[in-house]
Amino acid sequence: MIAATQATEARDTAIGANHQPETPARPPMLIRLEGLTKAYTEAGVTRTILNALDREFYTGEFVCLLGKSGSGKSTLLNLIFGIDAPTAGDVIIAEGGQPVRLTALSEHERTLFRRRNIGIVFQFFNLIPTLTVLENVTQPLELLGRNREARQRGQALLDRVGLGNRHGAYPDKLSGGEQQRVAIARALVHDPRLILADEPTGNLDEDTGDTVLALLLELTRDAGKTLFMATHAPEVARLADRVLHLDHGHLVSDQAWQETHSG
Ligand SMILES: Nc1ncnc2c1ncn2[C@@H]1O[C@H](COP(=O)(O)OP(=O)(O)OP(=O)(O)O)[C@@H](O)[C@H]1O
Ligand SMILES: [Mg+2]
Repeated sequence: MIAATQATEARDTAIGANHQPETPARPPMLIRLEGLTKAYTEAGVTRTILNALDREFYTGEFVCLLGKSGSGKSTLLNLIFGIDAPTAGDVIIAEGGQPVRLTALSEHERTLFRRRNIGIVFQFFNLIPTLTVLENVTQPLELLGRNREARQRGQALLDRVGLGNRHGAYPDKLSGGEQQRVAIARALVHDPRLILADEPTGNLDEDTGDTVLALLLELTRDAGKTLFMATHAPEVARLADRVLHLDHGHLVSDQAWQETHSG
């Protein structure tokens, strides 16, 4: 019996070796877009920004989302973050190996889910002006009730982003690049598995942008996290595992987009 099984396995392996190139095991699914649609109606006219997107993203991937201004990049990130609701379809995110359907959660449950699982770097930083730099960074941990470790973790991350000595400053005293680095520290302080970054270098000069990007990649990709980044910069896309292009409500994948844009 065992010998027969071994023989079958040996034959299957041989067939596989002859006829199918070995594909490495795919990491677990982290995000699934299922018929994801977002439309706005203004003065009786409906504009479909995202048109029935179906796509899966996997743990540890660095996904770059390209697309013209107004193509819906921020809209898609906000839907994945769960602060915006789809017109139709759903976003499914795995937590503890179980798929969680965002529209099946109440608003409160969605807020808690977001706090546990996701960090976001907003397009325009969204730091809270009445909180110090350190207080901005520690807030996600405090919202999780992890006040004890908040200060130490927050300060350690501020050190990592080169702003350790600015912890007591208020955001309006910081340059754009400094605010962006605080926003990155805030997105990472609670150690989320998924980081969404909406044009994290869009408001920065080239040198500062390069520094911020390198830092973000080091703290996310190199740490095995999943990074989903909207950007206008094709040079950033070159570093990504997958490049997607939003075009007229559709997600055009890496391959097709690169072919139409090469040369
Ligand atoms: N609340 C809203 N009501 C109506 N239209 C909206 C609303 N929010 C966004 N839009 C529209 O949805 C489209 C996509 O916007 P979005 O901010 O997602 O684009 P984007 O790709 O992030 O652009 P950018 O590169 O300029 O940041 C835009 O045409 C915008 O005007
Ligand atoms: Mg945007």
